Amino acid sequence: MPEKRLEGKVALVTGAAQGIGKEIAIFFAKEGATVIVSDIKDAEGESVVQEIGGEATYVHLDVQQEENWQVVTKDILDKFGKLDVLVNNAGITGFQEGFGPQDPEQASLKSWHAVHAVNSDGVFLGCKYGIQAMKSGQAGSIINVSSRSGLIGIPGAAAYAASKAVGRNHTKSVALYCCEKNYPIRCNSIHPAAILTPLWEPMLGTGADREENMAKIARDIPMQKMGMPDDVAYAALYLASDESKYITGIELTIDGGILAGASASPKKQE
Ligand SMILES: NC(=O)c1ccc[n+]([C@@H]2O[C@H](COP(=O)([O-])OP(=O)(O)OC[C@H]3O[C@@H](n4cnc5c(N)ncnc54)[C@H](O)[C@@H]3O)[C@@H](O)[C@H]2O)c1
Repeated sequence: MPEKRLEGKVALVTGAAQGIGKEIAIFFAKEGATVIVSDIKDAEGESVVQEIGGEATYVHLDVQQEENWQVVTKDILDKFGKLDVLVNNAGITGFQEGFGPQDPEQASLKSWHAVHAVNSDGVFLGCKYGIQAMKSGQAGSIINVSSRSGLIGIPGAAAYAASKAVGRNHTKSVALYCCEKNYPIRCNSIHPAAILTPLWEPMLGTGADREENMAKIARDIPMQKMGMPDDVAYAALYLASDESKYITGIELTIDGGILAGASASPKKQE
């Protein structure tokens, strides 16, 4: 067993300027990986690199732009000679962006496309260029950050839920494709829920009712609390490392038990 779990690996994390992606980048670096932190928030991304210190660099990567992927993956191969791990983490809900209503009846086609451009196209492009960059390597791992929303319907965030379902399903196509081609690349999806990051800010608010809003969310979670970014980073670390070398095409939920049961559980009806 290597002393550090990702020793010698080169890892690219998208949407790593804050929240879950930032935590994943920090975890990977601590475990010996050379980490490429990427995002569209350049100043915040640069400060994550400062925080990590050592073997980390920042690149601007807008995941919906194919040319960005072409440039970034080429630069990584030129500079580091390989790419071992790709975490397709960048994602938007449509709420922070002020896209208007997100329900199936009122949502605009424009906002539907905009959410899919980041969450679905971003994952498609990441997998496409990730495969090309990793196929001649030793042991590649692609981790797509989907959501529990990719496994169920969310009436108030329909585009988000559908786009996360794309990430879940595409993971399995990529996993099987790489097996068929005998490429040394595994591909898995992770499905967080209720992880306390800036993504939740528009729903939690800043006023007096913030605590109550958090308590309300916690009441609907079997473990009675929101998760933290490190809960997701530990899962990503496992899937990135060679410890998961026989695992491909899976969906790993990180949700405090939400998906273990139905919302109409006896406890809820009391
Ligand atoms: N927080 C949760 O409870 C939760 C639950 C399920 C799934 N997720 C998923 O986890 C991932 C990270 O979520 P988070 O909570 O850390 O969110 P966040 O909003 O805190 O961070 C998302 C990051 O993605 C970046 N980003 C947005 N658009 C981008 C683009 N076009 N190209 C590159 N980067 C872009 C943002 O700048 C930001 O740094 C997302 O895919 C999200 O859908 C989060």
